[in-house]
Amino acid sequence: SGQNKLVVGNWKMHGRRQMAGALVRDIAEGIPSGVDAALCVPFPYLEMVSGLVNGTALAVGAQDVSDCDDGAFTGEVSVGMLAEFGCRYVIVGHSERRARHQESSERVAAKAAQALRGGLVPIVCVGEQLEEREQGRTLDVISAQLAPVLALGSEALQALVVAYEPVWAIGTGLSASVAQAAEVHGAMRAALREVAGSSADGIRLLYGGSVKPETAADLFDGENIDGGLIGGASLKADDFLAICQAAI
Ligand code: G3H
Repeated sequence: SGQNKLVVGNWKMHGRRQMAGALVRDIAEGIPSGVDAALCVPFPYLEMVSGLVNGTALAVGAQDVSDCDDGAFTGEVSVGMLAEFGCRYVIVGHSERRARHQESSERVAAKAAQALRGGLVPIVCVGEQLEEREQGRTLDVISAQLAPVLALGSEALQALVVAYEPVWAIGTGLSASVAQAAEVHGAMRAALREVAGSSADGIRLLYGGSVKPETAADLFDGENIDGGLIGGASLKADDFLAICQAAI
């Protein structure tokens, strides 16, 4: 489609202040042109990281957001707060939150809608478990996870990003093959087209799950793969930058 690919680092619950500062500086100064890049960092580091990337090509994101407006929601973070701290992106529905915090696909869609209302770009994560793949249910699982997101409508879909992350590939060193990823991405594109028509072709579909510098270029060449969501390799500046380079 001619638009830049998007490479997003997800630090998850890693880092300490000093390491985070050094890592962000190293990454920010190395981002090549021709790729859109962002780092989704833990909430306590948002202010520092936003300051450090100011004036660079690196954008900032969070890893979760409440689906509610400000109120009595202990431990949650509102989209207004994220916007104040310079976030452009927010991950919603990461498999670690679906599993550990019982986030339903409906709740994930509500979070995406709330992020959009607050002017952020939600990165909606979907992905099947190993058992589901082995049972041949992958596309059904993805379709069910996407359904409440599709119900947000065409305008919402054009403003969000979808990340396909097979749970069995996350943090295991075992990336999906290009063919496996492209199959799911093709199905997701078709589902998005049913709602958004040809505008769906501009919606960026990321692959995530053990993306490494050695595997990134082949994955990013895959059909309908518009970038990556990078966990472990986003904790090393050289690796993350090599992955960004592979996306050009
Ligand atoms: O959000 C990132 C993904 O969960 C991928 O993590 O690159 O460490 O496998 P990983």
